[in-house]
Amino acid sequence: MNITYYGHSCFGVEINGKHLLFDPFISPNELARGIDVNTVPADYILISHGHNDHIADAESIAKRTNAKVICNWEISVWLEKKGIEGIRPMNTGGKVKFDFGSVKCVVAQHSSSLPDGSYGGNPMGFVIESTEGNFYYAGDTALTYDMKLIGDYRNVDFAFLPIGDNFTMGPDNAIIASDFIKCNDIIGMHYDTFGFIIIDHEEAIRKFDRSGKKLTLMEIGDTIKK
Ligand code: NI
Ligand code: MN
Repeated sequence: MNITYYGHSCFGVEINGKHLLFDPFISPNELARGIDVNTVPADYILISHGHNDHIADAESIAKRTNAKVICNWEISVWLEKKGIEGIRPMNTGGKVKFDFGSVKCVVAQHSSSLPDGSYGGNPMGFVIESTEGNFYYAGDTALTYDMKLIGDYRNVDFAFLPIGDNFTMGPDNAIIASDFIKCNDIIGMHYDTFGFIIIDHEEAIRKFDRSGKKLTLMEIGDTIKK
């Protein structure tokens, strides 16, 4: 699996030759100026919830790439009105097999409205299972006991967790979340993009380290292998 960071909560994950793109928010992100949104590959675009910092570039990337969009029902209706075809609407609890592996939609404790104020349904996280490995993409969420279900019934190799605090969990709660999901290999997201969520990187990494866990904070534009 190749993982590329596009800033904020936006990651590309290449699994079995397919490009999954999570929560595209690139062109409005000052920190991601070095990324050309017109070259970001996508066979699938997964959207955790409707907030602009997770959906801003979904329409343009979906139209350019013809990627299949995976999101909740309310967001799918909104995107269809913008002329996007081939959307797979899902909702929490649902699991669907695709050619790269499967997607299970799980609970995220957050809110969700679309950029124009439309109702965005409920926010979600995703558990991806494939022959190349399994991971959890939490979306925007507080720490919630529902995460224990992932630890009890799924086998997660690594996880993308929000750590910016203020709108989501911060590092301390993300450490507890990683206990709940029984996974010690965490990639941080949803930090530094706005003034409200600027964090001390060294301190966050040290806290994870002291708990026997690894926190990776990727450089925007970098790709790592898992
Ligand atoms: Ni949000
Ligand atoms: Mn957000």
